[in-house]
Formats: sequence, C-alpha cells, structure tokens
Amino acid sequence: MSTSPAPVSVIGLGNLGRALAEAFLRAGHPTTVWNRSAAKAQPLVANGATLAATSAEAVAAGELVVVALLDPSAAREVLTGAPEAVRGRALVNVTSGGPQDARELADWAAGHGAQYLHGAVYAVPQTIGTAASSVNYSGSRAAHQRWQDQLALLGRHTFLGTDAGQASGYDVAVLAGMYGMLGGFLHATAMARTAGIGAAEFTPMLVSWLTDSFPALETFAEEVDGADYGATESSLAMNQAGLATIIRASREQGVTVPTLAPLKELIDAQVAAGHGAASLSRTVESFTDPS
Ligand SMILES: NC(=O)c1ccc[n+]([C@@H]2O[C@H](COP(=O)([O-])OP(=O)(O)OC[C@H]3O[C@@H](n4cnc5c(N)ncnc54)[C@H](OP(=O)(O)O)[C@@H]3O)[C@@H](O)[C@H]2O)c1
Repeated sequence: MSTSPAPVSVIGLGNLGRALAEAFLRAGHPTTVWNRSAAKAQPLVANGATLAATSAEAVAAGELVVVALLDPSAAREVLTGAPEAVRGRALVNVTSGGPQDARELADWAAGHGAQYLHGAVYAVPQTIGTAASSVNYSGSRAAHQRWQDQLALLGRHTFLGTDAGQASGYDVAVLAGMYGMLGGFLHATAMARTAGIGAAEFTPMLVSWLTDSFPALETFAEEVDGADYGATESSLAMNQAGLATIIRASREQGVTVPTLAPLKELIDAQVAAGHGAASLSRTVESFTDPS
C-alpha cells in the first residue's frame, strides 16, 4: 500500500532553510514554509510550497517541522512563541548552537508534547541532498527512526544518542578545530605574502603538508584519552623551540602573531611545569587546568 508523503514544514528560509525546503519539495512532500521576511518564500511558493502567515501556523501544518534560523535565541523565540502548535510534532532544529541551547529546547519541547531532534549540518546549501552533505542528530530516537527517510533527503544522517546536546557538542568542538586551522592558514598566508610568495602559489604546499600531518592527530588523540604523554617523537621542548623560531621570523617579516602566541604560552606553561620531554599533546591539559 503506498502512502502519500507526510506534510513537512520549514521555519526559516535563509540560505540553509531554502535548500532544505527545496529538498522536501523535490521529493513530493507537501511543504509549508515560514520566514520572518516573507519575500524569501516566493521562489519556494512558485515551486509548490505553501506560505504560512505565522510561525505557529507553519508549525501546526507539518508533522515534521525543520527549524533553520540564525542562532539559538531566534530558534527559541520562534518555537516558544508557538507553544500550542508544537504538540504532537517532531521538531528538528538545525540551527547552530551550543549543547546547552539544544538541551533547554529539548526540555521545553518535551514539556509541550513535542519530540525534539537537534541537527548539526556539515554541508553548504548547494550540497544539501547530495553525497557531500551529512547531518549529525541527537535527541529523540523515536523521531530519528520515524523520520529517517525524510532526513535522508537532506544528506547522510547519523544518530549520536538521546542527549539532545550531543550533536552540538561534537559540532562546536569540530568547528573550534576548523577555526584553529583557519587561523593557521591566515597566519601562514600573511607570512608567505610578506616573503613575496602568492597565496595561490603557496597554498597547495600547505594543504599537502597538513594532509600528511593528519594521522598524527590520531596518535595525539590516543595519548590524550590515555593521559599518557610519555612516548613521543614530538616533544613539548622541541615544539616550544620551533614555535619560538616561527614567531621570531613572523615578527621580522612584519607579521603579528595573534593566533600563535597563545598556543606558545600554553606550551611554555607545560615546559615550565617540567614536562618538556613529554608529547606535544600534553598541551591539552593547559586548556582545562591553566595553572
Ligand atoms: N549556510 C550554511 O552553509 C550552514 C551550514 C551549516 C549550518 N548552518 C546553520 O544554519 C542556520 C541558518 O543558516 P543560514 O545560512 O540559513 O543563515 P541565513 O541565511 O543568515 O538565514 C538566517 C535566517 O534566520 C532568520 N532570523 C534571524 N533572526 C531571526 C529572528 N530573531 N526571528 C526570526 N527569524 C530570524 C532570518 O530571517 P530573515 O530572512 O527575516 O532575516 C533567516 O531566515 C545557522 O544557525 C547556521 O549556523 C548553516
């Protein structure tokens, strides 16, 4: 027996929300949309979406309600503004935020008879629905199971567990790593430029070296998990000296060191505490115990 596609709603039609709504429309789902600035809905309405007059009306129209707003406070404001409408709905919130934001909204949803699933999107709007898109979810296992076919329309999906904050917990840590890498890229590019090397010429060499370096992160991760920093080919003392050289060379080239200097301070603290022979990965201890 064939069943007709379930009604879904998409709240928030920024770059991501529009792509999510298009994926549901392509799959034939009756799709209701809402956006603070209604004009952004027009291309979707032309493709068959229904524009709700209010966010509460949009929530009420979908069995599955996907929320893609700018930040946690916008998501909280819009959802808690529709307390009656959320009852019986599966709320999938892909708005970026911290773990505590997700847990608070999950508790609120549970108190109002809704299932809550938080999603961390690893995609850009253009790749939604392709193999290059993946989304990590956590929160309601029942919602993830019930709606997995629809979630698959958006990209690969992984359920990380029933703590609604888990997907965001991974996400903010992954993004911290990404921004650290971007800080390194920008510093490296400034150094290359002042040495007369164009960024486009320089970047392939950086990418090649970073790619070759990635396996070391897995070794470091094992050291961190075991709090065992003894066996090393990359000691803190050696890295302290290496960073001092890079910082001096940067300054000589007129490049400031706003991203590298704090890392050097963390390493200095470990060496000063007598851990110069330990692995570089021991620096992780300085993040949670700066003394
Ligand atoms: N774009 C990406 O590649 C990507 C990837 C992963 C995760 N994300 C996350 O997905 C979320 C949405 O991203 P986006 O790229 O779609 O952002 P965006 O294009 O800037 O859109 C933001 C949306 O939030 C709405 N909004 C902002 N403040 C609001 C408020 N107080 N009340 C109601 N609506 C409000 C905007 O409405 P108006 O149109 O009226 O301004 C718009 O619909 C963000 O949390 C982002 O971090 C995005």
